[in-house]
Amino acid sequence: MAPSVITVDFLVIGGGVAGLRAAIELATRGSVLVLTKDKQTESSTEYAQGGVAVALSDEDEVGIHYEDTIKAGDGLCRENAVKILVEEGPELILELISWGAEFDKEGSKLSFTREAAHSRKRILHSRGDATGKEIERALIQKARTYPSISRYDFAFTLDLITDGNRCIGATVLRGNSIINIFAKAVVLATGGAGQVYSRTTNPMIATGDGLAIAYRAGALITDMEFVQFHPTTLYSPGAPPFLLSEAMRGEGALLANISGERFMPQYHEMAELAPRDAVTRAMVSEMVKTNSRHVYLVLTHLDKDFIKKRFPLIYATCLQYDIDITEDAVPVSPAAHYFMGGVYTNVDGETGIKGLFAAGEVACTGVHGANRLASNSLLEGLVYGARAGRRAASYIEEGNVNTTSAVHAQNSAADSPAPAFDLAKTRSKMRQLMWNKTGIIRCGESLSIAKKWLDRKQFIMEMSCQNRREFELKNMLTVAHLITEAALFRKGSVGAHFRTDFRERGEGWKKHTICRKGKEVAWSD
Ligand code: FAD
Ligand code: SIN
Repeated sequence: MAPSVITVDFLVIGGGVAGLRAAIELATRGSVLVLTKDKQTESSTEYAQGGVAVALSDEDEVGIHYEDTIKAGDGLCRENAVKILVEEGPELILELISWGAEFDKEGSKLSFTREAAHSRKRILHSRGDATGKEIERALIQKARTYPSISRYDFAFTLDLITDGNRCIGATVLRGNSIINIFAKAVVLATGGAGQVYSRTTNPMIATGDGLAIAYRAGALITDMEFVQFHPTTLYSPGAPPFLLSEAMRGEGALLANISGERFMPQYHEMAELAPRDAVTRAMVSEMVKTNSRHVYLVLTHLDKDFIKKRFPLIYATCLQYDIDITEDAVPVSPAAHYFMGGVYTNVDGETGIKGLFAAGEVACTGVHGANRLASNSLLEGLVYGARAGRRAASYIEEGNVNTTSAVHAQNSAADSPAPAFDLAKTRSKMRQLMWNKTGIIRCGESLSIAKKWLDRKQFIMEMSCQNRREFELKNMLTVAHLITEAALFRKGSVGAHFRTDFRERGEGWKKHTICRKGKEVAWSD
C-alpha cells in the first residue's frame, strides 16, 4: 500500500517538555504537527519528580548555578551552553508560571529545595514530587490555545526523510498506515533511551528512537559513553526500579549499608549530596563489600507528617510494595536514568543536517558535560526547546526551501520479511548485557564482550522492520552499540564514565567523542 502524504510547515517529533516548548515557539510562525509515539502524556517529563533547577531564590545567583553545573559536569560541559541555560532559565520558568504552571509555595513565596551537588536551595517542585506532571500539563494546556498546533498521538516515527544533507520530513507508522510527513523544518525531541538497560527509571517509550533515527540519517552523535545512573531506585521483589527522588536526600534522608552503617561521608565531602556519579559508585562499592544487591535509604529520623506531605507519590507507591518510608529503611539500588550524550547540536538546536533541529534529552549541546546536575534537564527542555523552535522558524524565513528531487526515506517499513530471530529474547539479553558489561563500572574486557555480542546483531540494526516492536529493538541495539563503542574509545574515567582499567582521566580527556554512520569513533573539540 502506498504511504499517504501530509505536508506541514514544522514537524515536531516528541511531546515532552522539549517538544512542546519548541511547538509553542513555532505556533505563530506556521502550521505545527506534534507527534508522540504513545498517548499524549507518556514521556519522561510526565514522571519527573524532584523538580526543576532555576536560580530564582533570594539566596541564589545565576553565576552560582553556572558554577555548580560546571563542577558536576566534571570538566566536560560546554561553557557557553551552560551560560545560556542558567541565564535564560529564570525567564522561561516565570513564563511557564504565567501560563498556569503551579509550583509549591511557602506562604506567598516559591519553595525551593536542595538536591545533590547544588550549593543552594534552587529546585522548584510541584505537588511535592510530581513536578514533571505539572509542567507537562501546563505546556499541553498552552499548546492547545494555538489553532496552528495539531497533534498525532500513537504515531511512531520510523525514519527521517532526507534529500541530500537536508531533512524534509519523516516517515511515520500510525495504526497500520504509513504516512510520509513533509515539513520545511523538523525538530527532534524524542527523549532518552533508558530502556537499553535492564534496570532503568525511564518509561517504556524511552527506546532511543530519535538517536537511532538521526544516526541513520547521518547526524553526528556525541558523548554517548556518559550515561547517568540514578543512585536511589526501589529494590524490592516484584517492584519496578521506581525512582526515590534525590530531593529526599536534599531533605535529610541518609544512605546506609545492609549493616545499617552510614557510608557516604567516607566517600565524599558532600556525603549524601555528592554528585550523582560519586554516590552511585559509592553505593556499588558498599554493595560489593557487604555482598548485597542493595543499600538502604533512611528517612525514619525525619518528621513523618512532613515526609508524607513532601513526597506523597513516593510514599503511596512504596506502600503498594509494603514499605512505609516513614518507618522502614527503603532498599535501593541504582538504575539507568539519563543520557548526557546525544545528537550533536549547537546552542540553537542545529544538528549539521539542514532543516533538522534537536532539543531535550535526545540532543547534546554539551550542557551537562560528563554528569548532569540534578534537575537541570527539565530546565534544558524549556530553554533549548524554545531556542530550537526559534531557529527552526528563522531557518525557513531565511528562504530555505525544500526540493524533493531525490527524496530518500531511510528505512521505512519494508516489503521484504526480516530474518527469523526471537525478538523478546534478544531485547532481554541486550538489556542485561548492557547492565552487566556497559553499566556503572566498565572495563575494556567487559565492553569488548558487549561489542562482540552487539556486532552479531548488526543484521537487526540494518534490517527493514515490519512493526513498532522491531523498530524499537533495532533502535535500542543501535544506541547500545553507540554507547559501547564510545565507552571503549574513551580510555579514561570522567564523570559518569568509569573504567577500572583506566581509572585516571587519560590523555586528551577534555575532548568529546563523536560517532557518525560509516565512520570510526573519533575525538572532537
Ligand atoms: P520526553 O519527556 O521523554 O518526551 C519524549 C517524547 O518523544 C514523547 O512524547 C514520546 O512519545 C516521543 N517519542 C519518542 N520516540 C518517538 C517516536 N519514534 N515517534 C514519535 N514520538 C516519539 N529531570 C529534571 O530536570 N528533574 C527531575 O525531577 C527529573 N526527574 C525524573 C524522573 C524520572 C522517573 C525520569 C525518567 C526522568 C527524570 N528527569 C528529571 C529527567 C527528565 O524528566 C527528562 O530528561 C526530560 O523530561 C526529557 O524531556 P524530553 O522532552 O527530551 O523527552
Ligand atoms: C530526582 O528527582 O531525583 C530526579 C531529578 C533529576 O533526574 O534531575
